[in-house]
Amino acid sequence: MADTTFGPEGWTPDRLGNLAGKTYVITGGNAGAGLQASRILLSKGARVVMLNRNAEKSAAAVAELKAEFGEGAEVSFVRMDLSDLASVRKAAAEVLATVPRIDALVCNAAIAQVPARKLTVDGFESQLGTNHYGHFVLCGMLFDRIEESAGRIVVVASLGYKLGLRTIQFDDMNWEKNYSANPAYSQSKLAQMMFAYELQDRIKAANRNGEVYVCHPGSSATSLISTSGGLKNTVGLVADDQVAHGPNRREGRLS
Ligand SMILES: NC(=O)c1ccc[n+]([C@@H]2O[C@H](COP(=O)([O-])OP(=O)(O)OC[C@H]3O[C@@H](n4cnc5c(N)ncnc54)[C@H](OP(=O)(O)O)[C@@H]3O)[C@@H](O)[C@H]2O)c1
Repeated sequence: MADTTFGPEGWTPDRLGNLAGKTYVITGGNAGAGLQASRILLSKGARVVMLNRNAEKSAAAVAELKAEFGEGAEVSFVRMDLSDLASVRKAAAEVLATVPRIDALVCNAAIAQVPARKLTVDGFESQLGTNHYGHFVLCGMLFDRIEESAGRIVVVASLGYKLGLRTIQFDDMNWEKNYSANPAYSQSKLAQMMFAYELQDRIKAANRNGEVYVCHPGSSATSLISTSGGLKNTVGLVADDQVAHGPNRREGRLS
């Protein structure tokens, strides 16, 4: 049965009120879903701080958004490469020094379907390292600021978590034996979701404040696959498409 929580049209940005005074920190804000989310948040008067790996693309995104919303639009970026934990720590420190409140940290950036097994700077399989470990460290470093702001963490996941192994292969986290691009992506998204649910449970158990949400952005024609070194329309994107339009699609926390 279709989910009608938000009415026949589903959830649309029109449902958002004025966001003046709120600050959103978003990873991968210079392209794809992250750029569109930044655009919507700015259109509602929010401040947006992007954490992006590429300074040139980020400057272009900031210029594009300022051209659209005016020079006064509060949009900026901090350089951060999720595949390099030292860079994540440095960026988080810069955010803590310059961003006094965080109403939401949106863990959006990702790579997908990296065709050949690669390792991050820190020696982790690239998709798990970038998508999960990078965000794990970032969330840990920014958590207190988010809590002080009565904010939330939003993990952009994927219904692709249902594909591949459907579990975490703890005996070979670096995929040394059986690397395959799509299962490794699926596992990285599953890891992000498991982290999110566990974090929410631990926040509650510790009587701390903060909410954690998991969302699936739907099947979107972005540069996700091509910038990760793979071909568009390979099995993962098609599969994401199939699950995205299936009966389980929901907004907010996936169950
Ligand atoms: N598109 C879909 O159909 C789909 C379906 C399900 C889930 N998702 C999820 O939606 C989210 C957004 O994906 P998208 O489709 O918008 O992809 P996208 O257009 O490729 O954008 C991904 C963003 O992540 C950034 N990024 C990649 N590696 C990074 C790193 N090491 N450090 C920092 N930033 C990095 C990219 O930076 P560069 O611009 O420098 O590459 C880009 O800004 C992802 O979490 C993805 O798993 C997408």
